[in-house]
Amino acid sequence: MSDGYGVGDASYRAAGGRDGIARLVERFYVHMDTLVEARGIRAMHGADLAAVREKLAVFLCAWLGGPNDYRARFGPISIPGMHARFAIDAPERDAWLTCMARAVDEQPWAPAFKAYFLRAIAVPAERVRVASVMRRAE
Ligand code: HEM
Repeated sequence: MSDGYGVGDASYRAAGGRDGIARLVERFYVHMDTLVEARGIRAMHGADLAAVREKLAVFLCAWLGGPNDYRARFGPISIPGMHARFAIDAPERDAWLTCMARAVDEQPWAPAFKAYFLRAIAVPAERVRVASVMRRAE
């Protein structure tokens, strides 16, 4: 059951709003920085994660039904299109999702929302993989 999380700003509120999402993203990049299985995807990023941390947090606010400030602050984005230049296949997608699952597990969220969030975020993660594989097959 999704408990109506996809409706309006229900997911944004369940995540604790801007601060809750910032805490999630902070932990997500700590895991990316430290987990052995994330070494490959960590190496795709620049040394300083501050900018991508802010961008992912702002993106997720809108993605969860909260304020949409991404375009105004950073310009238009296509998540699959933006990632197509990186070599992302199932292992990289799964490493990214592992970092996210660890970070989600650490949040003071309702268990049903944790499960909902992880199911939902797997969808754009798979789209990123497909876009990357297709780009390399061209
Ligand atoms: C599937 C595995 C994924 C990998 C391996 C991955 C990797 C990356 C990399 C290497 C960057 C560039 C970082 C830099 O410039 O230093 C990036 C940026 C970003 N990623 Fe991902 N990503 C993945 C999935 C996702 C998903 C599912 C989302 C959103 C739901 C997302 C949102 C973003 C955003 C918002 C940025 C910043 C874009 C920008 O610089 O304009 N990523 N990602």
